[in-house]
Amino acid sequence: MAHPHRKLILAGNWKMHFTRADVEKFFSGLDHSSGNFTQILFPSFTLIETVARLARPLGIEVGAQNASAEKSGAFTGEISADMIKDVGASWALLGHSERRQFFGETSGGVCVRAKGLLAQNVSVMICVGETLADRQSGATQKTLEKQLIESLDDSFAAAIEDGTLTIAYEPVWAIGTGVTATTAQAEEAHQMIRAAIERRFQKRAADAVSILYGGSVKPDNTESLLSCPNVDGALVGGASLQPATWSQIIKIGSKIAA
Ligand code: PGA
Repeated sequence: MAHPHRKLILAGNWKMHFTRADVEKFFSGLDHSSGNFTQILFPSFTLIETVARLARPLGIEVGAQNASAEKSGAFTGEISADMIKDVGASWALLGHSERRQFFGETSGGVCVRAKGLLAQNVSVMICVGETLADRQSGATQKTLEKQLIESLDDSFAAAIEDGTLTIAYEPVWAIGTGVTATTAQAEEAHQMIRAAIERRFQKRAADAVSILYGGSVKPDNTESLLSCPNVDGALVGGASLQPATWSQIIKIGSKIAA
């Protein structure tokens, strides 16, 4: 988090959890902290409106866990930019490894969605990350670079520079496993991603892009991960579902961002 131009981002990915009553309970248990950082929650589509009502007065932004590139039309099961904006979302998470693994999403598809969404004023967070097999065979850099090249269009330079396109590095082997990347592993991967952005775009884009770490982030490893010079935030799954652990993570973030 060393770079002065990059604002810390703490994001909670709620995956397929919660009903509206659970959302109310979550917010009543939240010990809110604010400060010079961005907080985003990514609930299921059906919860966006409820989350936005409770979150936005606290300055918390809301995002969808996916969204279509298309404006409207015969696309059964898809949700458009206008639909998510209508209920209070301003972000979309794209290419999460669970979408890639279980629903056949590809980096090329992520690129199409990102392009359509950015054009409709939705900010995007693009997830990349290597599998354990990639890491063990020494293919981490190659995998990350391939995902980035295929996910990013030349036209995204402006969005990277103005912060409406962010990257989340989520090593697949660390997601929901309780195994967190070490700070050295996270910093090394974030450096690889930043270097790949610089090769693809320009140094300006590489300096500006926020790269979040995700994968078993918990209150007890938040501070060390966020202290890495190239880690600009965290994308948190499990620990964002409990108001107590999420409040702790936010408190740590607000201290670091102060
Ligand atoms: P986790 O999930 O924090 O539960 O590992 C992270 C994510 O999938 O975004």
